[in-house]
Amino acid sequence: MKAVFVHEFDLAVGMQVDEVEDPKPAPGELLVKTGASGVNPVDVAIRAARHPYAKMVTPPYIPGAEAAGEVVALGEGVEGFKVGQRVYGRVMGGGYAELVRLPANTAAELPDSYSFEEGAGLTVPFYTAWNALVIKAEAGAGETVLVQGGAGGVGMAAIQLAKRMGCRVFATVSSKEKGDFCKSLGADETINYREENFAERCMELTGGRGVDIVVELNACDNFDKDLDAIRVDGRVIVIGTGTGKGPTAEFRVPSVMTKDAVVLGLAVVNLIPKMPEVVRRFTPILREGSLKVHVDRSMPMSDSNTAHEVVLGGKFLGKVVLTP
Ligand SMILES: NC(=O)c1ccc[n+]([C@@H]2O[C@H](COP(=O)([O-])OP(=O)(O)OC[C@H]3O[C@@H](n4cnc5c(N)ncnc54)[C@H](OP(=O)(O)O)[C@@H]3O)[C@@H](O)[C@H]2O)c1
Repeated sequence: MKAVFVHEFDLAVGMQVDEVEDPKPAPGELLVKTGASGVNPVDVAIRAARHPYAKMVTPPYIPGAEAAGEVVALGEGVEGFKVGQRVYGRVMGGGYAELVRLPANTAAELPDSYSFEEGAGLTVPFYTAWNALVIKAEAGAGETVLVQGGAGGVGMAAIQLAKRMGCRVFATVSSKEKGDFCKSLGADETINYREENFAERCMELTGGRGVDIVVELNACDNFDKDLDAIRVDGRVIVIGTGTGKGPTAEFRVPSVMTKDAVVLGLAVVNLIPKMPEVVRRFTPILREGSLKVHVDRSMPMSDSNTAHEVVLGGKFLGKVVLTP
């Protein structure tokens, strides 16, 4: 098969497409003929050796954390899937390839109403947003949620899930186009963080009370001000440093105390043991067909270097995906 390889931990050294032997599914895995692979900030951060997960791989390696496609073989012991089925899911690397080994416990059926490109943008965004809103924040109807970076992959998912949960949703953006996109996903208010102090705006919009929950995707820029934006007992769910940013954030410690702030972190990789339960609850919602997975750009795998530049540049709505 053909696959994209990182040969060096250095963004200046381009990835390249190489021909390698077809993989075989290990016990508990599906072998999937890739329809599309999601491109995520973590792929770029690992390639730049700026992410803790960079210690878990040695070049040359195939990047990619999520994919969608058609099952072509089942590893030993796999139940509940069949050859020919359309699926999507989380892969532990290896996503940018014509064939991927997808652990069955992180895989799910892809309804016919979603293309493979859309399927490739489901797992990391929606399962991360689910983890943040349902599992960590335990968001309830009537609560106010601020989604930081609403027009990106996880933001797109968080806005829609929070609305479904009956929340009032604010989203931060850098442009009118991104604001319109977030509104189209259901955001009640958008805040251009380049023009306004988002914490002050959150206070205005909540009558001085503060938001209940912040879904923080750009913590290195925002964490300190998140503590101004929340109400007393508010929750900040720390998901990301911000694409190409990090790893440190400065914040005023007294703000954590004066707000009785609840700060919760998460990594989607730690969700894996709970994934079958999340799939069980998320699949009926996905089958309804109303969740939008906006794919801004679908590019061939041979353009993976450009895809990484697009993700780093941030000038896209929703997701960037690669096709074989
Ligand atoms: N913990 C986990 O398991 C997990 C899972 C998924 C993602 N993440 C992390 O979460 C972050 C977001 O992921 P993603 O896939 O949504 O990334 P993305 O698609 O690149 O979107 C990030 C968005 O944030 C916006 N942004 C940049 N700086 C901002 C700021 N200071 N305030 C508000 N918005 C800002 C960007 O647009 P503008 O630049 O135009 O504002 C962009 O729309 C990344 O750091 C990623 O690594 C972590």
